[in-house]
Amino acid sequence: TVALNTAAKAAGKLYMGTATDNGELTDTAYTTILDNNANFGQITPANAMKWENTEPEQGTWTWTNADQIANLAKTNGQLLRGHNCVWYNQLPSWVTSGSWTNATLTAVVQDHTTELVSRYKGQVYAWDVINEPFNDDGTYRSDVFYNTIGPAYIPIALRAARAADPNAKLYINEYNIEYTGSKATAMLNLVESLKAEGVPIDGVGLQSHFIVGEVPTSLQSIMEQFTALGVEVAITELDIRMTLPETAALLEQQKTDYDTVISACRAVSGCVGVTVWDFTDKYSWVPSTFSGQGAATPYDSNLVKKPAYDGIVAGWQ
Ligand code: G3I
Repeated sequence: TVALNTAAKAAGKLYMGTATDNGELTDTAYTTILDNNANFGQITPANAMKWENTEPEQGTWTWTNADQIANLAKTNGQLLRGHNCVWYNQLPSWVTSGSWTNATLTAVVQDHTTELVSRYKGQVYAWDVINEPFNDDGTYRSDVFYNTIGPAYIPIALRAARAADPNAKLYINEYNIEYTGSKATAMLNLVESLKAEGVPIDGVGLQSHFIVGEVPTSLQSIMEQFTALGVEVAITELDIRMTLPETAALLEQQKTDYDTVISACRAVSGCVGVTVWDFTDKYSWVPSTFSGQGAATPYDSNLVKKPAYDGIVAGWQ
């Protein structure tokens, strides 16, 4: 069988990649697959670059885990996606419970983004500068950034990121924008207005945490709507979960679903690549979040390829 990144590149894409996490890197059966850039030409740290891990106290920076993954990408000859600068979740308490004014929190957002992006200047293909800014109804998520600064926190972070690493692609990353509706419309409108105002924005990440048998039929057309605005797109966190136990029928449907998602990226010239949110059921985030669900990735928990793997290869061909 063809290796996944090899197949993506043969389709003219930049990469097929995966998320990974520091705790997994001592598992040599796992790293043997991860480290081969024929399999994965891009990696994303699932947790290491998040705010609570990089700046747990104001002005105190802990880079060990983030550096480990950045260095791994370098050693392996893989592109690196930075994840992320500004997100409501996995924030240290000094951010969530600080008593901020617009001016003081603006300075904090600028400082955090600048330090983080500068640290990996020249090493990151793309940064998720903003992660998950919207509610599902398309209104802005009520978090410390929005509530203190308003929607201006978004251009503030994007401008800081651009100044810190002018060559990194700057993304906004979101889930449930793969479906036609208020949330996708809100993101389209945001990108359009950022562009109109000259704010640096290069890409939109469609996370794509899907359910077997329920891949949105609008995926390709939504990606085309974003690229029509002059940004690239990437599928940044793909997994396709099922209600357990897994059955042969569910695994076959999952194969079809992976094929469908990959084919959508292949068909959209501005879709640069696809990242799975870890490649094995052994380390997927899904079972811990969705009780009774799982088996969402292309390798099973023994690191054996599932039918989904062949679905990915078929999608790139
Ligand atoms: O690091 C601590 C460890 O010290 C502690 O002993 C352990 C006990 O539970 O928790 C560890 O932290 C966990 C962390 O993952 C690292 O494993 C957190 O509890 C857990 O909540 C955290 O989950 C992460 C999740 O984001 C949190 O929101 C997942 O690994 C990560 O895959 C997931 O990724 C997100 C993307 O960033 C954004 N889009 C959705 C995606 C899936 O939720």
